[in-house]
Amino acid sequence: MLRVDQTGTILIKNGTVVNDDRYFKSDVLVENGIIKEISKNIEPKEGIKVVDATDKLLLPGGIDTHTHFQLPFMGTVSVDDFDIGTQAAVAGGTTFIIDFVIPTRGQSLLEAYDQWKKWADEKVNCDYSLHVAITWWSEQVSREMEILVKERGVNSFKCFMAYKNSFMVTDQEMYHIFKRCKELGAIAQVHAENGDMVFEGQKKMLEMGITGPEGHELSRPEALEAEATNRAIVIADSVCTPVYIVHVQSIGAADVICKHRKEGVRVYGEPIAAGLGVDGSHMWNHDWRHAAAFVMGPPIRPDPRTKGVLMDYLARGDLDCVGTDNCTFCADQKAMGKDDFTKIPNGVNGVEDRMSIVWENGVNTGKLTWCQFVRATSSEAARIFNIYPRKGRIDVGCDGDIVIWDPNQSKTISKDTHHHAVDFNIFEGIKVTGIAVTTIVAGNIVWSDNKLSCVKGSGRFVPRPPFGPVFDGIEQRDKVRNELLRKVDRKPYEDDNTKNSSK
Ligand code: URP
Ligand code: ZN
Ligand code: ZN
Repeated sequence: MLRVDQTGTILIKNGTVVNDDRYFKSDVLVENGIIKEISKNIEPKEGIKVVDATDKLLLPGGIDTHTHFQLPFMGTVSVDDFDIGTQAAVAGGTTFIIDFVIPTRGQSLLEAYDQWKKWADEKVNCDYSLHVAITWWSEQVSREMEILVKERGVNSFKCFMAYKNSFMVTDQEMYHIFKRCKELGAIAQVHAENGDMVFEGQKKMLEMGITGPEGHELSRPEALEAEATNRAIVIADSVCTPVYIVHVQSIGAADVICKHRKEGVRVYGEPIAAGLGVDGSHMWNHDWRHAAAFVMGPPIRPDPRTKGVLMDYLARGDLDCVGTDNCTFCADQKAMGKDDFTKIPNGVNGVEDRMSIVWENGVNTGKLTWCQFVRATSSEAARIFNIYPRKGRIDVGCDGDIVIWDPNQSKTISKDTHHHAVDFNIFEGIKVTGIAVTTIVAGNIVWSDNKLSCVKGSGRFVPRPPFGPVFDGIEQRDKVRNELLRKVDRKPYEDDNTKNSSK
């Protein structure tokens, strides 16, 4: 569904192309949605749209690995739907999102997938893909995972270790899900928090009379995230399959990931904009509405060092790509938990501000180079989820998803100017220098001069093939480790009587 003026053809002049391995000054020509030429002094053909990018950077469109648009969750539905959510995305320089299909316990994965895809196809303003959560385990689930991988373009499945009595799976179920992921060449993803302990912690807080939003963090401290992260990695490594920890929110969890990586375990970690941009002390704010707006799981940590340390991990490459977990609820929805924090719908914004928050806290602090920024916000996600270099790179033949980034232009983030449906912004008042001035999706300008010009439903579903680069070398690692598992040859057991009688 394209507008007539959407030709997918554009010439960008005089910009600095930044990929994750190098940057250079060049013009870029996109034709019919695909990058056609990258060279200096491309002459514009007659009638072609030309944009000047002098003193600006040309970045591969951002990839948000983790959104929940119009998610039915905790008795309500997140307010950023696939239309508003992808509008907010492109306004911030993100041109590709991966959302999560979350079937209910007992529901067919295929049925849920079809439902999510319909919701998205009708509304998306940029390309997208779907992860699928596995919330129960059976032969049927196993068969449907295969269909999703082989016929529906899914190469990632998420397990929840939290949300007891709804999405949470047991360790044994997780073991079987991971084994199936390995057979199918799909990456296993995990929401890592010890759900049983969270459940007990919640009861304890309520018994103590702590009913406000601070009870959310107090009932699910860092240690429960670190413990579950460790457990997920150990289980995945026991079946020798790559595992991706979504929304790494604490120093303890990041340390665990780093320790296992040092030992050669194939684990990936995803920090999110919230954890890199703010701290969780807001949950102690005296204004209930303000405090509740920061409630998400795992909690944004109150330890003020956290965001800087997570950024250090990202810069070192010990955390991989930045998502958002964008899952927004307005004040009246959050108020479902006004007397009991366990009923506050979990989730915050991020999809619009992710790129600027990472630039501000990463590039402007001297922690990330331009190339590392591109890696963290786009290329690495494309590699892990096996759509690179179609996405995540500016090169001939790649999709024409390009952001014209002004590293010197500033803005102050606010709910009054953001493009979300939600009535709160967790980054309110933060000044960022480094913003997307123009966003191009498939060769069409969708954001420029502070104005959106998207076409609802014009985004495409991008299938992701299995056995991506995260599986490279996995077979050999498994083989070598299995060779160490040796049976000991022994004579058959004889009890003492048999032994004596044979003497
Ligand atoms: O609080 C969160 N994270 N809400 C969305 C669901 C999830 O756990 O990712
Ligand atoms: Zn989660
Ligand atoms: Zn999530």
